[in-house]
Amino acid sequence: MDNKIRNFSIIAHIDHGKSTLADRMLELTKTIEDRKMKDQILDRMDLERERGITIKLQPVTMKYQDYIFNLIDTPGHVDFSYEVSRSLAAVESVLLLVDATQGIQAQTLANLYLALEQDLAIIPVINKIDLPAAQVEKAEKEILDLLGCSFEEIVKTSAKTGEGVEELLKTIIKKTPPPYKEEKKDHPLRALIFDSNYDAYKGVVAYVRIVEGQIQKGEKIYLMATGAQSEAGEVGIFSPDYKSTGELKAGEIGYITTGFKEISECRVGDTITLFKEKEEVSALKGYREAKPMVFAGVFPQEGSEINDLREAMDRLKLNDASLVYENEHSEALGFGFRCGFLGVLHLEIIVERLRREYGLELVVTVPSVAYKVYKKNGEELRVRTPQKLPEPGETERIEEPWVKLDIITPEDYLGKIMELVKERRGIYKNTEYIESGRAILYYEIPLSSILTDFYDKMKSLSSGFASINYDYLEYREADVVKLDILVAEKEEEALATIVYRDEAYQKGKEIVKILKETLPRQMFVLKLQAAVGGKIVAAERLSAQRKDVTAKLYGGDVSRKRKLLDKQKKGKKKMMSSGKGKVDIPPDTFVKILRK
Ligand code: GTP
Repeated sequence: MDNKIRNFSIIAHIDHGKSTLADRMLELTKTIEDRKMKDQILDRMDLERERGITIKLQPVTMKYQDYIFNLIDTPGHVDFSYEVSRSLAAVESVLLLVDATQGIQAQTLANLYLALEQDLAIIPVINKIDLPAAQVEKAEKEILDLLGCSFEEIVKTSAKTGEGVEELLKTIIKKTPPPYKEEKKDHPLRALIFDSNYDAYKGVVAYVRIVEGQIQKGEKIYLMATGAQSEAGEVGIFSPDYKSTGELKAGEIGYITTGFKEISECRVGDTITLFKEKEEVSALKGYREAKPMVFAGVFPQEGSEINDLREAMDRLKLNDASLVYENEHSEALGFGFRCGFLGVLHLEIIVERLRREYGLELVVTVPSVAYKVYKKNGEELRVRTPQKLPEPGETERIEEPWVKLDIITPEDYLGKIMELVKERRGIYKNTEYIESGRAILYYEIPLSSILTDFYDKMKSLSSGFASINYDYLEYREADVVKLDILVAEKEEEALATIVYRDEAYQKGKEIVKILKETLPRQMFVLKLQAAVGGKIVAAERLSAQRKDVTAKLYGGDVSRKRKLLDKQKKGKKKMMSSGKGKVDIPPDTFVKILRK
C-alpha cells in the first residue's frame, strides 16, 4: 500500500519566490497559526529576512488532507548550492520554481541538474503570475523545451496571492513518489545527516532523513564515518520549530539531539545507526565536502578584542561547517584569522554577523583565491594570502583555480557580455539558444576574475537580465605577482593583493586612486604608492590639510605670515620624522577596494 509521506524541496534561481511559496503552504496547511505568521517565515535568521535571501536550508513538516508533507526550502545563491545538494539527498521530488517575469535563469538550470543527478521527480511551477509583467507563455515554452514535459504538467502559482497553491499541493501528492516500501521500517536504522545545527539548549542537533528503520528517544546511536557514539536525547520533527515526537520512522524527515559537544562529531553526510545494529549496516552515500574557495584575513580593529573574535568564530562555526579559519598574525593588523569562505556573499554574511551579533569592529583584507605555488626546490605550497607568496626568484610556477561559468542572457546583450568575459580572461566554449530570444553562454574562467565586481558589472551591462552560475573546474598556470600598497611609504599589509603581472600597473593605479579619494587628509603630504617587487608602478599624493594659522592676520604683514607658515612646515616635518605620521585607514576604504 502506498504510504502517505511526501518529501520534496523547492529549488529556483535567487528571488523567484521559494520562501514566499513556502509561506503560503504553511498557511494553507495551518502549520503556523495566523497570528504567528510573518513573511518568509522559513528564513530563520534576522539577516536572511532583512536582506530577503535564504542562506540556510530549512525543513518543515506539514499535514495536508491525510498526507504528511516534508518540505525543505533551499537557498538560491550560487555560494550556497552545497545546501541545495544536501537537501536533495533527503527528498523524492523538487518543485522547480520559475519566476514568470524572469524565465529560466542560471541557478534554475544548475539546481535542476543537481535534481536530475539524484533521479528526483521534477514538478515545474511558474510563479508570480499575478504580476503585470508576467510572461507566462514565454516561461512555459522555456520549461517545455528544457524538460520535454507537457503543458498540463506545469502548475501556475502566485505565492503572493495564494492562487494555484492548493492545486500545487495536490500535484505534489500525485507526482512525488512515496519514500519507501512498507518493509523498510523493519530494517536496521540508517539515517542520513543532511544538516546539523548547534542549539544553545539542545546542543548539537542532527537534521536527518530516515532512510530505513526507526529510532526512539533514548536509544544509543552510532555514527558510521566518525565512529562517534552517543544517545538520542530528543527525537522529533520541524514545525518549523523543534517539536518532539519521541520517534522517527523510515521515510520521515526530522531531528535527533545527539549530546555531542562539537558539530564536527556530527558531520553532514554521515549515517546514523543504532549502536546495537552497527555491524549489520553499511554507510549511505554521503556528500562531497564543501571546499572554501575564497580567503580573507579578518582582524579585530582593537587588538584587545582578539579573544572575543575567536569566541565568535567558534560559535559561528558551530552552525556553519563550511567556515574555516586559522590563526594569522600580521605586523600591521596584529592577531587575527585567515578565513576560508564558499564565496564572496558567504564572506560578507559572516563578517556582517560578526559585526552585528557579536558587536565586533573588524578589518577584512582583500579576498583572494588559494594559489598553488611550485617552488624551485621541489616544495609545493598553498598560498591563501599575498604575504605568503614566495619571492619570484624562488618560484618555478604558480597555479590558480578555474571555474566553469554559465551565463544566461537575452540575445541583445550578448556582445557586451562577451566583451566583459574576454576582458576577464574567460575562454569561450559555446552558446546554446533558449526558445525565447535568450542564450546560454558557456565559458571557462579564472575564479579570481569573477570574485568581486564581475556579477555587478554583468548585471548593469544587461539591465539586470543576465544571470550566472559557476562550478569549480581545475587548477591552471597563472602569471601572477604580489602588488604592494604603500601609505606614507609604509607597506600596508592588508591592502596587498595578488594580481596578474600584466594588470599590476592598472590595478595599482586604481587602488591608489581609491585611497586618495577615501583617506582623510593628514597634517602632512601623504604618499600613496603601488609597487611590485620593490618597484613603484603607480603613485598619488594627497595634499596636507592646512590649519589656517594666518586667518587672524588681516592685511599686510607678509613677513609675519611667512614666519607662521614656516613654523607650520617645520612642525609637519617633525611629526613625520618622529613617527607621528601613522595613518589610520578607515574600514570603509577596505570595503571600497574589496568592491573594486
Ligand atoms: P532566495 O531564497 O533568496 O533565493 O529567494 P526566494 O526564492 O526564497 O524568494 P522570496 O520568497 O524571498 O521572494 C523574492 C521576492 O519576490 C519577495 O519580495 C517576494 O515578496 C516576491 N514574490 C514571491 N512570490 C511572488 C509572487 O507570486 N508574486 C509577487 N508579486 N511577488 C512575489
